[in-house]
Amino acid sequence: MRIPLVTVAPYLDKVKVALAPTIDVAQYPFSLSIIKNLKEISFPSQVTFFVGENGTGKSTILEAIAQNAGFGPEGGSKNIYFKTSLENTYAGVEELAKCCTLSWRIKPKDGYFFRAESFFNVANRIDEIAKHDFSIYEYYGGKSLHEQSHGESFLAFFKNRVHTGGFFILDEPEAALSPQRQLSLLAIIHELCRYSQTQFIIATHSPMLLAYPGATIYSCDTGVLETIAYVDTQHYQITKNFLDNPERYLRYLFEE
Ligand SMILES: Nc1ncnc2c1ncn2[C@@H]1O[C@H](COP(=O)(O)OP(=O)(O)OP(=O)(O)O)[C@@H](O)[C@H]1O
Ligand SMILES: [Mg+2]
Repeated sequence: MRIPLVTVAPYLDKVKVALAPTIDVAQYPFSLSIIKNLKEISFPSQVTFFVGENGTGKSTILEAIAQNAGFGPEGGSKNIYFKTSLENTYAGVEELAKCCTLSWRIKPKDGYFFRAESFFNVANRIDEIAKHDFSIYEYYGGKSLHEQSHGESFLAFFKNRVHTGGFFILDEPEAALSPQRQLSLLAIIHELCRYSQTQFIIATHSPMLLAYPGATIYSCDTGVLETIAYVDTQHYQITKNFLDNPERYLRYLFEE
């Protein structure tokens, strides 16, 4: 039976941010302009992207949301919750998370916080669990993620683990994917959004992923979180201009 097309984000509706008077604005993450100016984030559509230059605060925002949604700081599902020894690294995000209030349309039953940066640690954790429960590999392509190439393991994750829908926070999922596999990921996102109760919140630098129709795109580039049209993103404009005329770009870049 076909599940009707869902266009509104089914789960997370809003994040309200009220910075406590005790926070230190000279310290990460409150020193970041985007965080200082953050009051509210709305999630009207099933897919929401965060874009912006490196270091503008996309991962910081995603991590604070993920923490409030019950995911571990290293990523994973609610069942794969763990922290490494990098506790201090997450102290700032934990402070920010305390200043955030999430309002849900309905609470998701399933979900995943996917971080390209720490996917390796998640793979280790899955291997540990598999020592006493081999069936966990069914969700990840039938074998250890370490026995698959970087890109294969990423896609195995998306194809096998994410197939039932849910609430997904993805930080740079394109990191290991070829252009062809990024298209596969777009198709997977579309399939999930059409046929299941699914919501994605994604930080990305991929002009291909950003093309997802009907997505809300937030830019962190001006220091104030604001929506931006796909064709106005730097990712689209720079990539398009470069591919339209690589020679001109290279001449400009290399000129002494
Ligand atoms: N644990 C930390 N302690 C101190 N500063 C941090 C910490 N984590 C991140 N930062 C700083 O905060 C800023 C925002 O980091 P964040 O990782 O959120 O950026 P981003 O927008 O996700 O960047 P990218 O596109 O490179 O992933 C960066 O300048 C970074 O150096
Ligand atoms: Mg990041």
